[in-house]
Formats: sequence, structure tokens, C-alpha cells
Amino acid sequence: MRLPRLPFDPASLSRLTLIACGSAFLAAHVGRYSIEGLARLPCDADVASELRYRDPPLADGGAAILVSQSGETADTMAALRLLQVGGQTVLSIVNVPESTMARASDAALLTVAGPEVGVASTKAFTAQLAVLACLAIDFARRRRQMTTLEEGRLTQALLAVPSHAAAILGQDARIRELATEVAKARDVLFLGRGPLFPITLEGALKLKELSSIHAEGYAAGEMKHGPTALCPSGPLFEKTASNLQEAAARGGRVMAFTDAAGATALSRFAEQVVTLPDIDSFAAPILHAIPVQLPAYHVAVLKGTDVDQPRNLAKSVTVE
Ligand code: AGP
Repeated sequence: MRLPRLPFDPASLSRLTLIACGSAFLAAHVGRYSIEGLARLPCDADVASELRYRDPPLADGGAAILVSQSGETADTMAALRLLQVGGQTVLSIVNVPESTMARASDAALLTVAGPEVGVASTKAFTAQLAVLACLAIDFARRRRQMTTLEEGRLTQALLAVPSHAAAILGQDARIRELATEVAKARDVLFLGRGPLFPITLEGALKLKELSSIHAEGYAAGEMKHGPTALCPSGPLFEKTASNLQEAAARGGRVMAFTDAAGATALSRFAEQVVTLPDIDSFAAPILHAIPVQLPAYHVAVLKGTDVDQPRNLAKSVTVE
């Protein structure tokens, strides 16, 4: 991917703020993990409705990234104005090229996901994650934090996303089966660690949005029980698996999304295990977003709620 010219030089920044609302904020939250991890650039990820009233101190010559599908969300627009008054350079990641945010920012990076009609952000969310992943690689290279070899490896991981996504979508029948159990639940907790923590928040947001089932996302280290978990093998596997085992021991019904290596270990106590392809951890948030969003769709269909236009929700929140 060739990135357009950015309005700031990531090599000269000492801090970066990522701001958005809803699912776009959760994409920004994943972006924080990858930009900090790869580019070693300290980041804050902030909810626009909080930032706009918190009156935070802003660094001289600082920069911010806004993330928005519509480019019209009132709180994110208010944050943009506050940042501009505070002398910040603002890059927006937006899906609607002619939106107010795209025009008012110093530069706009388009997610090119095509028009998103359903209220729930799905393809726009995936595209936001992909754009932020590309930025993280670019920032890391420009800040001299990444070798050419590593850049090649991560680029390959991103290029493999479409085929892995197709493999995950091929498991739709299995995910639908799992959704029939989720549909019976009163409360659903999503657990995960690292950059998959914001993906657990996204799974919970989608389930609440589409099916009105109470759901929460949790950093696995914060939680002692819960029925749904993202637990791919890797450095944090043992820790998350042990959180899940405790959950099962306390009567939690564990359903896990993992890879082949993780499946063997988790199937000892998880009621359901969905085995995902072996995914590079860098691309994992983009791909894990699919199996956490799909159950919300299936549960909504099973419960007969409106998948595209959930009750009391608007696609674009242009008033406070
Ligand atoms: C998510 O499924 C939502 N519909 C909602 O959280 C949305 O992401 C949020 O309102 C932000 O909208 P935006 O991306 O258009 O700014």
C-alpha cells in the first residue's frame, strides 16, 4: 500500500493522540497498541466525547489522528475543533471522502470501504484497522524502529489477511452454532489481552447493538470468569488460558476463538472452540474482529431483531 503524504513527520513526534467514538474508537485503541509497539511512539487513545470536555494539555506542535466512518460524528468534530484551536496537526481516517471531517482536517486518509449502510460498523471497522496497521508500519520505518526484513514480514501478514478472512468466513456455520448458545445468555463477557482487548470491546458493542443482550468486553487479566474469549497461541496464551480455566472452574461457559495450537489446550475446559487459521499476531485484531462480530449478526437473526437498523440507533450521530 502506498500512503499519501502525511501532514506531520512521525519521526519528530514525542506523543500522538488517537480520537474517535464507538467502534471507530475501538479501532483507534488497536492502533495505539500497534503504533506504540512497532514505532515506539507514545500514544493516547481517547473517546471524543471525553476529550472535548476534559480540556487536556496539548503538546506544542503535537499531532492527532481522528477515526470516523461517516466523518460527521458530532463529538469527533468537536474534538477536531478543540485540537485545531490547540495548534495540533490533525490527520483523519474517514470512509466518506466528501465528509466535513475529511475537509476540515489537515489531511484525510480514506478507508475506501465503500458506502456502509447498516448502522453497525463492520467493513468500515475492518478497513480502519487495516489503515492503522499500515500507518504503524510506516511510522516504525520512519522512526527507524524496524528493519527492512521485519517490514517485509509484517507487510506479508497484511497481504495474507484476505485469504485468512475468507477461511474465517468459511466457518460461518460453526459460528452460527455458537451463536445459538449465545442467544440464550443473559450476559456475555468477551475476554482477550493486548490488541485483542479492544476487539473484545467491539464484540460486546456489536452484541449489545444488534441483539440487546447485555455484553461486556474485558482485558482477560482483569476478569475471573466469562463465556467468550479470544485466545490465540503466542506470548500471552498461557495467561489468558489460565483466566479461562478459572472461569470454567467457577461455572462460566467458555467459548473460545483460537488457532490449532491453542485449540488442543483450550478444549480441555472450553465448551466450544472455534479454530481459526494460524495468524501473525500483528494481523490478528483485523481477523479476530470477524468472528466476534458474526455471532452478533446470527443472534440478531435468531432473535428477530433488525440487523441493519437496530432500535433507537442512528448510523451517524450528528447531534450530541
Ligand atoms: C458501531 O457499530 C456503531 N454504529 C458506532 O459505535 C459508530 O462506530 C460510532 O457512532 C462512530 O461513528 P463514525 O465512525 O461515523 O464516527
